[in-house]
Amino acid sequence: MVIHGPLAPGQVSFLLGIIPIFLAWIYSEILEYKKNSVLFKSHSDISLVELANETVKQGDRAILLEGRGLQSASPKAQSSPVTSHVVRAISEFGVLLIYFYLCDRTILFGESKKSYNRDLFLFLYFLLIIVSAITSFKIHHDKSPISGKSILYLNRHQTEEWKGWMQVLFLMYHYFAATEIYNAIRLFIAAYVWMTGFGNFSYYYVRKDFSFARFAQMMWRLNFLVFFCCVVLNNSYMLYYICPMHTLFTLMVYGALGIFNKYNDIGKVIAAKIISCFLVVILMWEVPGVFDLVWSPFTFLLGYTDPAPSKSNLPLLHEWHFRSGLDRYIWIIGMIYAYYHPTVERWMEKLEETEVKRRISIKVAVAIVSLTVGYIWLEYVYKLPKVTYNKYHPYTSWIPITVYVCLRNLTQNFRSYSLTLFAWLGKITLETYISQIHIWLRSGVPDGQPKFLLSLIPNYPMLNFMLTTSIYVAVSYRLFELTNRLKTAFVPSKDDKRLTYNIIAAVIISSLLYTLSFIFLRIPQMLV
Ligand SMILES: *[C@@H]1O[C@H](CO)[C@@H](O)[C@H](O)[C@H]1NC(C)=O
Ligand SMILES: *[C@@H]1O[C@H](CO)[C@@H](O)[C@H](O)[C@H]1NC(C)=O
Repeated sequence: MVIHGPLAPGQVSFLLGIIPIFLAWIYSEILEYKKNSVLFKSHSDISLVELANETVKQGDRAILLEGRGLQSASPKAQSSPVTSHVVRAISEFGVLLIYFYLCDRTILFGESKKSYNRDLFLFLYFLLIIVSAITSFKIHHDKSPISGKSILYLNRHQTEEWKGWMQVLFLMYHYFAATEIYNAIRLFIAAYVWMTGFGNFSYYYVRKDFSFARFAQMMWRLNFLVFFCCVVLNNSYMLYYICPMHTLFTLMVYGALGIFNKYNDIGKVIAAKIISCFLVVILMWEVPGVFDLVWSPFTFLLGYTDPAPSKSNLPLLHEWHFRSGLDRYIWIIGMIYAYYHPTVERWMEKLEETEVKRRISIKVAVAIVSLTVGYIWLEYVYKLPKVTYNKYHPYTSWIPITVYVCLRNLTQNFRSYSLTLFAWLGKITLETYISQIHIWLRSGVPDGQPKFLLSLIPNYPMLNFMLTTSIYVAVSYRLFELTNRLKTAFVPSKDDKRLTYNIIAAVIISSLLYTLSFIFLRIPQMLV
């Protein structure tokens, strides 16, 4: 079993942190077992508390347990099950990350080459659509909060379903190296960023919750898994470019609405804010030199070098500039749509009430205009070669997105149905995006692009595809659950004191672990 390259300090810290947690987990399972068989309750409860206090001193996330422990310390019997749940969740998370490492960085499992066949690609995709239409077609009856009459346009089921079917194509594009749909993939990513602007704007505009706790939860959701992947696999943050990109645009929406949020009800203030967003983007991406000036202090975080020899001479910030630049405007468009969403909804409700003839002619007109615009875009923009397309992409991606939104909401019926299977996949897009690189595909080296496929059943590509896909989707779903469970445990909603305490504890523990592992790695060198 060959391990590529020496261990990095981060990887050693992870081991140092996770081992005590594994021990605590095993210990608590044994206690649980004893408790069930001997029925010697009080003893095992106390031991669990002691155990928790012990682990607190060691693991980097374990220290955070103390926060939990302190809070519920008084009713002891209550604190132990919570603690052991957290220990169990962290252990499971650790096991999954070790599986990532084994698949991607060791030769325990094989690898195979990607191959593309348009027929197979479309066959699999349409098969999935048919299966999900048969098994998970669902009509929703959510009523509009405004009038209680018509069905919400751009409701959550729809956006999740939208994410889901795009994500499946995006992933299959990677698996089969379907380079001919490159432009479509760029468009899907723009659509995600559009949804980031749309969803976050609606949330902050309506809920007005700019609290630190809410902010921390959002950052946890976006970056928890990717952080540990970077540590365990010794990768750069930019390898998972979707994460920094969504983090940036989420922060921009948060900032835009958060500054002077008392005045958000005034239309002119929102207009001024949106114009300022455009100005910031124009300044940063269109004026030469500004981007490098602003981002060069963050090179340690956002720099990336592809280890492939043909690409290794690009500037460190090139990847960040390219990825963030492609979708620089679309999040603002998402914000504008979100702002006008209630207006359009009211207008659509009125339309549903007008007499049949008028209603149908308006709808037909909308459909014809949308289809024509969509066709023109397809003919003159989408069909351009990749490099030229990328140049026009930031300025044109709103066109097909608008066309899709119009057509998808054209009738009450269209609006009310969704395919639940795709909506389910749409919920775990972040996890499927991150995991694919390691347990579905394979990169082999730190920072490597996933050029190979993970092969668990050599010489049977389709069977292998089925097996790796099942494991991969199941693991992604578990990671989604664990991220949320640990978020609830460590990022409390209404207890800023405990949150601050947890953050400080996490920083101290991880610095200690890191220093320790740095020293460990030095010892062999000093001995020589
Ligand atoms: C239209 O469809 C999109 C995507 O399914 C959805 O997000 C949007 O809210 C819908 N409503 C309107 C009025 O566009
Ligand atoms: C904000 O955007 C992020 C990134 O796309 C997303 O994960 C999150 O769910 C959004 N928040 C809301 C409230 O829609």
